[in-house]
Amino acid sequence: MNKAASLRFGEKSIELPLIEGSENELGINIKDLRAKTGLITVDPGYKNTGSCESAITFLDGEKGILRYRGYDIESLAQDADFLEVAYLLIFGELPTKEQLEKFLNDIKEESLVNEDLKKILESFPSTAHPMGVLSSLTSALTSFNPSSVNVDSEEEMYKAIVRIMGKLPVLVAWVFRKKEGLPLKYGDYSLGYVENIARMMFRKPNKEYIPNPVVDAALNKLLILHADHEQNCSTSTVRIVGSSHAGLFASISAGISALWGPLHGGANQAVVEMLEAIREDGGDIKHYMQRAKDKSDPFRLMGFGHRVYKNFDPRARIIKKAADEVLNDLGIDDPVLEIAKKLEEEALRDPYFVDRKLYPNVDFYSGIIYRAMGISTETFTVMFALGRLPGWIAQWREMRLNKEPIGRPRQIYVGENHRPFVPINRR
Ligand code: SDX
Repeated sequence: MNKAASLRFGEKSIELPLIEGSENELGINIKDLRAKTGLITVDPGYKNTGSCESAITFLDGEKGILRYRGYDIESLAQDADFLEVAYLLIFGELPTKEQLEKFLNDIKEESLVNEDLKKILESFPSTAHPMGVLSSLTSALTSFNPSSVNVDSEEEMYKAIVRIMGKLPVLVAWVFRKKEGLPLKYGDYSLGYVENIARMMFRKPNKEYIPNPVVDAALNKLLILHADHEQNCSTSTVRIVGSSHAGLFASISAGISALWGPLHGGANQAVVEMLEAIREDGGDIKHYMQRAKDKSDPFRLMGFGHRVYKNFDPRARIIKKAADEVLNDLGIDDPVLEIAKKLEEEALRDPYFVDRKLYPNVDFYSGIIYRAMGISTETFTVMFALGRLPGWIAQWREMRLNKEPIGRPRQIYVGENHRPFVPINRR
């Protein structure tokens, strides 16, 4: 097959080389386009534009395929432990038992957070949104730890990785506990990584903490399902911030802010708020479906649609099944789960959604499980950030190790042409 694309422009015609990936995806390499033609490409939202070549995550939106380093998400969610998935994403291979034990021990060594960070946390009003607090605290880590990383030093890179893998879960637990009015405590580092996160979050000072295997297993699965998703909005943010050689903590903090938006990770909060509104509105699903289709109404069916998946989001299928299991195991009958299922049924047979290939995404059911765990709605996206951490680290590390240039898109200027300055006394 011809390994180039031809571009004709006026009298000119140039050949642009193609890049072919390991899954036979093809991209036009336009690195020399402007030098050769004076032209740039314009693609709002980058719907047709690749930012990099990456070996971390593969997804096929048409077939509903998601793989981390070649392993399918279904197998990982079913059989893996979140920390081994984190190791896989970051270092490229599933760890041996010894490698995983060392990774966990090294992370535990780095899991202390300077007590002064508690003062920063306590200075936030109780009404502060947990995502804003988490992003601030993550950025504040740069004041207590070296954030810039000499990526050419494998040892320094590893140290930065275990440092943020150790400290972010503590910040997540403290942000959750601050919202709940609970004392800011550490966990029990004899436990596994996920089990200890659950303990740090849910233990109460007035009684013995009894681990709940259903909650631990659901949390493990949710964190795996959120761990990476190639060049989504927040990961692209982490990459572009890191491309200026800003430190890892600063880049992750920026990613947390990007994830916060309701069109992205903040959708898991918006979904439950939407389901609650439908419930309070007497369960009038058709009314909300109508609003979602009305172009004059900014309301969208939150948790539906995806930039890449034009088929089912494979994670949504897994989470929907897990939601049933968790609520059943915990003996919780949550009316919003039934509303979610009815909404899905309605949307999947409505031409507006079918024609636009709008299916439930990862955020549609995840909040229902977090809610069953006793996590407040505003804290759902913090859990998404915790899951996405290894993906952000892996992508940041790949971008730096590949010595990718600073991200700096071009533009087409459409403003005023040159005009002379007019002093204020003549305006
Ligand atoms: C995540 O990118 C990732 O990988 C993200 C993520 C990850 O793991 O990192 O998967 C996590 O962010 C999932 C998405 C969570 N967001 C939501 O659930 C919010 C609701 N969804 C939409 O806002 C929307 O679907 C997006 C933002 C997810 C995708 O938007 P696109 O790709 O820019 O699509 P679009 O806005 O151009 O929509 C195409 C059409 C439009 O209608 P027409 O102009 O063709 O008539 O579909 C309509 C849109 O109005 N549409 C919706 C809709 N989503 C798209 N209409 C009603 N409800 C919706 N949810």
